[in-house]
Amino acid sequence: MHKANDGGKVDAVDPASAAAPPGGDHHASPVAARFDLWAPDYDSSVLQEAFYTRLHHHTLLLASHANPAPARVLDLGCGTGRLLRAAAARFPRADLIGVDISAGMLHRAARTTVAGPGRPVYLQADAAHLPVADAAVDLTICTASSHHWPDPEPPLAQLRRVTADDGYLILAHLPGIADWDLNAAGSGRTNPRTGTSRLTALLGAAGFRITKAALYAECPVMPTTVVLCARPDTAPRPRGVIRLLRSGAIGDGQRGRT
Ligand SMILES: C[S@@+](CC[C@H](N)C(=O)[O-])C[C@H]1O[C@@H](n2cnc3c(N)ncnc32)[C@H](O)[C@@H]1O
Repeated sequence: MHKANDGGKVDAVDPASAAAPPGGDHHASPVAARFDLWAPDYDSSVLQEAFYTRLHHHTLLLASHANPAPARVLDLGCGTGRLLRAAAARFPRADLIGVDISAGMLHRAARTTVAGPGRPVYLQADAAHLPVADAAVDLTICTASSHHWPDPEPPLAQLRRVTADDGYLILAHLPGIADWDLNAAGSGRTNPRTGTSRLTALLGAAGFRITKAALYAECPVMPTTVVLCARPDTAPRPRGVIRLLRSGAIGDGQRGRT
């Protein structure tokens, strides 16, 4: 884990929480290498105005309906920090933390961040090993990053771990791009009508309950994006056969068989 700037004291930062050792294998990640190369031109891309700025607005609107005054906001896959800069205006009292696997993207984020109380702390880390304390965040955000995860389960488990039980996760996901997000025929979106994808089921398995789903489709050159609002599911988990029945792992035809 590398701290791109200190940005003031944020006691949620906890390198010991990351399962990987500091400076772990994210340096070898092909995704990090790709974004390191893209970083110098990232903010001048035409996609910023055409897609990202509006998606961030949409996401932060949903976030502020969920929690108008969060104490701490984490942006996972924060890139060059654009969403966090908008979040600083919307949530002036919040501690802001940005995590990204790409040193290049974080370097740009740190350069464009002005000193002051609303300045985010930027951390270099893999989504699968977040250097953030348990239940330390009451608003967790992740936009246009989850389709880069090679395996969605470890990042979702980490998001659940760092999100407080009374907190929220706002996840803007581009469905049908990641290998794990393709349908059985391997051909694109799981559900083109709603934009929902396998991520919906994975969120449930990770311990989140989706409370709202909105589609964002204003940019013709980008896929329809699903913006999900989820809360940690704190209900006790059903055990044994009941859990298997509820999860669908045992179908109707199998009920009653020995
Ligand atoms: C398309 S950019 C989106 C950046 C930003 N969230 C936004 O909406 O403008 C995807 C970002 O996710 C980061 N990313 C991809 N995989 C990651 C991982 N496993 N852990 C942390 N960050 C990751 C990339 O480095 C990149 O900065």
